[in-house]
Amino acid sequence: MTSESGETTLREAADARGFDIGAAVAATPLRNERGYRRILREQFNAVTAENAMKMGPLRPEPGVYDFADADAIVDFGTTYDMTVRGHTLVWHNQTPTWFEPWTYTDDQLRTFLRDHVHTVAGRYSGRVDAWDVVNEAVDDDGTMRETVWYDAMGEQYLDLAFEWANEVAPDADLYYNDYGADAVNEKSDAIYDLVERLLERDVPIDGVGLQLHALGDHPDPESIAKNVRRFQELGLDVQITEMDVAFHRDDPPADAAERQAEYYREIVETCLDIGVETLVVWGVTDASSWIRNFKDFGERYTGDPLLFDDRNSPKPAHAAVLDALSND
Ligand code: G3I
Repeated sequence: MTSESGETTLREAADARGFDIGAAVAATPLRNERGYRRILREQFNAVTAENAMKMGPLRPEPGVYDFADADAIVDFGTTYDMTVRGHTLVWHNQTPTWFEPWTYTDDQLRTFLRDHVHTVAGRYSGRVDAWDVVNEAVDDDGTMRETVWYDAMGEQYLDLAFEWANEVAPDADLYYNDYGADAVNEKSDAIYDLVERLLERDVPIDGVGLQLHALGDHPDPESIAKNVRRFQELGLDVQITEMDVAFHRDDPPADAAERQAEYYREIVETCLDIGVETLVVWGVTDASSWIRNFKDFGERYTGDPLLFDDRNSPKPAHAAVLDALSND
């Protein structure tokens, strides 16, 4: 799709080489801001729901699903012929405020989660192309994270979640997604072992999502490549699912915009080199970046981690991604 200004867009460059360049989308600016919608449909060929498909936002009250925001994002993606990524069916965060796990038995929690996965993945069957089925199941030290789902079902909750998703959305690609595991490190080693176990148990997993929130420390692209390759060698697809690039707020480099652009360029080039065909950035413009409003992250990191600035103008990072996608 050519931009209103007639300049080549990320989307055109990505389409030309069969690459998905995506953005996480928030429902409020999608509804209210024309500029946000324009950037999204012109510059990106993939969308991920930033929050709208999580259990909490979807389920405001017991027994009630509110699909309005999620539908708006899926409809936008479908209308503009974009790949739609669903995020996320099973997570320990952003569960509904009314959900009190201790009032359920383990069996009831299993039924609760099964019904959730069946309802949500089933609703979007044929429209959501890829699901982050399970998000962040491994803790920072590489042990299994002790979540409500793990406590009730042990590691088997991952097997079940993938199987339930596969039952109702057989055409969707199913991913395990995590942060801090982009390069080869203790956590990505543990995730590698985990997905190996899932594959040994014939769990229907298609791929691994590496989030790549490069906040302060920017993982070495060579180590990312090495990490990606080992998952690919297991027969899995690998996607970059939530990229953003920030610096420590107390010591940002003088040339932050250029350093940010270079890192984006290196990552896109790495993806193209090693057969990663999807890269999603975690927001459309800096104004909507989660970093600004999440816990104390806004105090710790620079709040302009994306490809478009607060005035919807493309940044050097945009030019770098466009350049990398345009080169052979
Ligand atoms: O919408 C409510 C609003 O009604 C309420 O008044 C306000 C008060 O705090 O909160 C609003 O919800 C916030 C929501 O973002 C929408 O802005 C939540 O508090 C806030 O916790 C939530 O943060 C999201 C975060 O996940 C939750 O863990 C971020 O937007 C979202 O970008 C972030 O995304 C995660 C991925 O899902 C998984 N990987 C890491 C990534 C970044 O943390």
